[in-house]
Amino acid sequence: MLRTHTCGELNINNVGSEVTLSGWVQRSRDLGGMTFIDLRDRYGITQLAFNMETNSDLCLKARKLGREYVIQVRGKVEERSSKNTKIPTGDIEIVVDEIIILNLSKTPPFTIEDNTDGGDELRMKYRYLDLRRNQVKQNMELRHRLSIIVRNYMNDMKFMEIETPYLINSTPEGARDFVVPSRMNPNQFYALPQSPQTFKQLLMVAGYDRYFQIVRCFRDEDLRADRQPEFTQIDCEMSFVEQEDILNLFEGLIKHLFKEIKQKEFSDFPRLTWADAMKYYGSDKPDIRFGMKFVELNDVAKGNGFSVFDDAELVVGICAEGCAEYTRKQLDELVDFVKRPQVGANGLVYIKYNTDGILKSSVDKFFTQEQLLEIAKKFNAKEGDLMLIMAGREEKTQVSLSVLRLEMGNRLGFRDPNKFSPLWVIDFPLLEWDEETNRFYAKHHPFTAPKPEDYSMLFTNPKDVRANAYDLVINGVEVGGGSIRIYDRDMQNDMFKVLGMSKEVVNSQFGYLLNAFEYGAPPHGGIAFGFDRLCSIFGGVESIRDFIAFPKNNNGRDTMADAPSTISQSQLDELNIQLIVKE
Ligand code: AMO
Repeated sequence: MLRTHTCGELNINNVGSEVTLSGWVQRSRDLGGMTFIDLRDRYGITQLAFNMETNSDLCLKARKLGREYVIQVRGKVEERSSKNTKIPTGDIEIVVDEIIILNLSKTPPFTIEDNTDGGDELRMKYRYLDLRRNQVKQNMELRHRLSIIVRNYMNDMKFMEIETPYLINSTPEGARDFVVPSRMNPNQFYALPQSPQTFKQLLMVAGYDRYFQIVRCFRDEDLRADRQPEFTQIDCEMSFVEQEDILNLFEGLIKHLFKEIKQKEFSDFPRLTWADAMKYYGSDKPDIRFGMKFVELNDVAKGNGFSVFDDAELVVGICAEGCAEYTRKQLDELVDFVKRPQVGANGLVYIKYNTDGILKSSVDKFFTQEQLLEIAKKFNAKEGDLMLIMAGREEKTQVSLSVLRLEMGNRLGFRDPNKFSPLWVIDFPLLEWDEETNRFYAKHHPFTAPKPEDYSMLFTNPKDVRANAYDLVINGVEVGGGSIRIYDRDMQNDMFKVLGMSKEVVNSQFGYLLNAFEYGAPPHGGIAFGFDRLCSIFGGVESIRDFIAFPKNNNGRDTMADAPSTISQSQLDELNIQLIVKE
């Protein structure tokens, strides 16, 4: 028997027992007469004790053990004289009679402890060592627990988990596809699914009216803290439902997760239309842990000879309570912040409502005290507050101000990772105009149904058509998104038409789905949650990488396995691929 117990389970009740443990040497301490080793496995740490006086050979052997050696020890559980209240095994230690070295280890390139000295890159390269660390292990445990709770909930709700293929044709989720050449079909390629969208709709046609899958998706897009090229969705689809049914059922899932994992109960999630989300937060994924809503100022700010406001499509601002005492330096920092290319604003106007009742602004030349007061009233500002205002093209200004709002939220400590503010954003526009290619794209995907009352505008006023589409947002993160689908072939054809897709393209890409719609497609809809994002929210960490066992870096590389990499000439030949190396 390689072990009788794990390194996390022995306590005062086991005192006197003979035990065998196996694990990794986390660290050892020599205190003259005594040597102590922390033995670690997945379950915890147990202290091993060696006494120079009573067993010098063994103690000397223990002293030679290197960090991360894999050892097996046999010994007796004893009560410790100095206890460690921080760990569950802290009352006891093992007085060791025998050590067997199961394997040696090179000195690891960073310390495998909670506060490691390893930088990001190094830990990614040796991810299997990083995974031994407590913090990362806890993240993996959280992910596992979440997946079990989701599966049980979905099973209770009569959803069937069905796997869909990974080698498919392109799916239209808006990112680039990863493609895989087919050896048996020269010059042809599979695409890896950006989501199982079309397949889950086919399952509805097939009559499996409640489907889900915890499934890997692949998208070749620019990476960020909350984006990985391969990520996992909790993908769901239901038949014979309306939007309300879907929102209620999945709100139930998210509430259930919060209850199980965080012991938190929620009343009904607020719902915000997309138009209001943009108007009040400049974002379709607002962080509503704090207020600081946008206030439109066109009527009071324009017409005073300040051309930045006068020429703007939108003048809009936020009010930071109690920030009037911001120094020149702090204000300059904010101006620099908004001018960064990532934020993209030309500048920032501030108005301080000083505690002496005087209003002081960066545009005093153009505004009298009365006019500034009128603006302050719009904000409901009071003495001591700071108003921050931006102006320009509507959409661009909203987006820039939303970034500033989040920055102010950070500075003022409003974005506590232990506070959770979920909401539904609903009534998304069906279509999105793309300046570059001069055409409409589906905002969600081309199978999303327009609101019935807006359908008649599809060709006359496409940009105002709203969709039966919704996102679940938690703490400013888009955690999930879905829609009610089109299930009528004519409506689907109209949608393709407005997207400027020719019959040939439609038939070659989605012919199979349209054909299926000829065989009794039920009304249906669904949603997919970003599973990695859910984990990171529950874990209170921004980066989803921390919740993926073997993630990619920001260049899409696996630096440990060194992927992607070149392939051999014979592989290329087999695949009928000729490489043209571009300089
Ligand atoms: P959507 O494209 O909105 O919808 O994706 C659903 C959710 O998946 C997560 N997500 C990602 N997570 C990590 N890395 C990425 N690169 C990434 N991209 C998306 C987000 C997002 O909300 N088929 C539709 C769903 C449907 O209509 O039912 C879909 O995929 O949390």
